[in-house]
Amino acid sequence: MGNLEVEFAGVRFRNPLILASATPGWDGERSNQAWRAGAGGVVPKSFAPPVKWAQHPRCGRMKLIKYGKNRIGMVNIELYTTMALQDWLENELDKAYEGNNSIIASVVAHPDPEDTGKNARIIQDTGKVVMFEINVSCPMPAGEDRVGFQMGNDPETCYTQVEAVRKAVSLPVGIKLTPTSHNMVPMAQAAEQAGADYLTIANSVRSFAGVDINTGLPKLAAYGGYSGPAIKPITQRHVSEVAKVVNIPIAAVGGISTWEDVVEYMMLGATIIQICTSIMWHGYGRFRRILEGLSQYMERKGLDSLQSIRGKALPHIVTIEELAKKPPMVAQVDPETCINLTKGGCERCGKVCFYGAIEFAPKLALYGENCDGCGLCTEICPVGALKLLPA
Ligand SMILES: Cc1cc2nc3c(=O)[nH]c(=O)nc-3n(C[C@H](O)[C@H](O)[C@H](O)COP(=O)(O)O)c2cc1C
Repeated sequence: MGNLEVEFAGVRFRNPLILASATPGWDGERSNQAWRAGAGGVVPKSFAPPVKWAQHPRCGRMKLIKYGKNRIGMVNIELYTTMALQDWLENELDKAYEGNNSIIASVVAHPDPEDTGKNARIIQDTGKVVMFEINVSCPMPAGEDRVGFQMGNDPETCYTQVEAVRKAVSLPVGIKLTPTSHNMVPMAQAAEQAGADYLTIANSVRSFAGVDINTGLPKLAAYGGYSGPAIKPITQRHVSEVAKVVNIPIAAVGGISTWEDVVEYMMLGATIIQICTSIMWHGYGRFRRILEGLSQYMERKGLDSLQSIRGKALPHIVTIEELAKKPPMVAQVDPETCINLTKGGCERCGKVCFYGAIEFAPKLALYGENCDGCGLCTEICPVGALKLLPA
């Protein structure tokens, strides 16, 4: 396997794939299992303030979201760990740390930032964690406690939380931001100004799991966090917008389940990657599979390090105004590849053209003068016979 070692916020990780804070790292044994399975490090389940609603029972707390038969995402109402911090440190941490696991401690931001700092200090004193991740992004709490994503939508709160933890500990401090935000940039910048060593982008998206149409009841009776492949475009938006304006490194997390996803996020500016839902769906063995894919990719591309691809896509993301200056394009067909023209039958492109640019009379005919250049036909074509080319 190629050299996948990476330096992130001053800490060396054996590879860039980290288990994100969630169920697969709820105790010491599982946290260590991820490490043994090849993860570059582990963020155990977030340590929480002792609020009453963070306790069990929260049964049936995960719902798959499907399109047809395919899983596209998952909504959960799991909240934080139900284990008291002291119990975790006394009974789980040694096991989690076995084999020198690189543990990133996720501390939930307490309403009083000094308390967040105190918890981080207690954890640092064990000598068994490499850095901190302040969680201001849990999508569930929306009450007066304000211990979730509402905090993560307020730049001042992000600033004061980072500032307090930064003062309390000497290890690197990062903050995990919320994608339930119309613009993450002010929070990211506030955290950077307060001395954050890195940013984790992002938590799950506040959402609703759907309605059972037989009973009329909600599938989950509270708003939860949406995760998995469906949220990748949302998180990629935030990662790229923030990567353009901050100078601290980014851990990207949201819908990553393949090595290609990892490469995409790195090209958008991420230095390391965290994974949750894919591990929950496929098990810890997923780490090895993604690592192998990354290694082969590096070999094919002749890369010594994945860091050389970091941010590669960013200069090519432009504003809509800049795009408007580009010359128009229209759909054109390669007659030798088109199924309709070679064998007859396929009419998929015609069904998705709303401009009268594709007709079958009876064979495929394109009317470039009507084409608006939307490109949907090129996306739908099963054989890649249609392309957008200069008008
Ligand atoms: C069941 C479940 C529990 C989670 N618990 C936590 C948590 O305790 N702390 C946290 O920071 N993020 C938590 N998350 C969010 C994940 O760490 C991750 O940010 C999010 O799911 C997006 O990544 P993914 O698409 O790879 O799952 C949880 C996610 C899930 C699905």
